[in-house]
Amino acid sequence: GKESFIRKPGTPLRVWAHRGGSSASPENTAASDEVARRARAEWIENDVQPTKDDVPVILHDDTVDRTTDGTGAVRSLTAAQVGALDAGSWFAPAFAGQRVPTLASQLDGLKTRGGNLLLEVKGAHTRDSVARIVSEVRSRGMSSRVFVQSFEPQHLRWMHELAPELPLGLLRSTLDPDPVAIAKDLELSAYNPSDAALSARPGAIAELHAAGVAVNVWTVDDAARWDALEKAGVDGVITNRPAELAGWNAAF
Ligand code: G3P
Ligand code: CA
Repeated sequence: GKESFIRKPGTPLRVWAHRGGSSASPENTAASDEVARRARAEWIENDVQPTKDDVPVILHDDTVDRTTDGTGAVRSLTAAQVGALDAGSWFAPAFAGQRVPTLASQLDGLKTRGGNLLLEVKGAHTRDSVARIVSEVRSRGMSSRVFVQSFEPQHLRWMHELAPELPLGLLRSTLDPDPVAIAKDLELSAYNPSDAALSARPGAIAELHAAGVAVNVWTVDDAARWDALEKAGVDGVITNRPAELAGWNAAF
């Protein structure tokens, strides 16, 4: 079976660096990987979307408008067009020249420098574009270093069909009435609710653990909440402040 992502008693919260080190650098770029790596975050969260020509690229929004110097839907632009954009200047002039990474370049960087990838399958995917993600991961022998999450059950179903070796997490902004049932149906390794969603019924943590499913909460940047979630038995936190969470963990 797959590795369990449930936290062992007495061990600290797993740190998932949301869009990389995104409070200190432009999200979803090589620069934000570097910040997360320096924070010793084991896992970097990136969003992956297909371009017009089905190349998987690392971008959060449906358009390039907010985080680059270009405009338009990522699905309407070729990989070459997206790759020519500046993805750093919007954050601060010092980051001029950062690019929208391809998934391929992201995996190459992790393979060289270490670290693991929490990959959120986001946006206008098809079965073919999900298959393209799988082939990028497998061709580099990176399957044991990638965890896939999505808000879209269909994306996870395709992923499970195409790459049963990859652990899967379902993102939720409201709690399901029966999270264990959906976790079993989708063969999840983790159920990843927002902090507000989980707060509605913290008892879901024990139910999911009994079913072998980990619980990771997003997006939590506040030490008082890290403490409460750790005590509640949560396994990991997706945070914009990986250095601070790692420091908090070190004092655990
Ligand atoms: O990893 C959880 C989080 O990334 C989901 O929301 O909008 O930041 O992709 P979003
Ligand atoms: Ca995300």
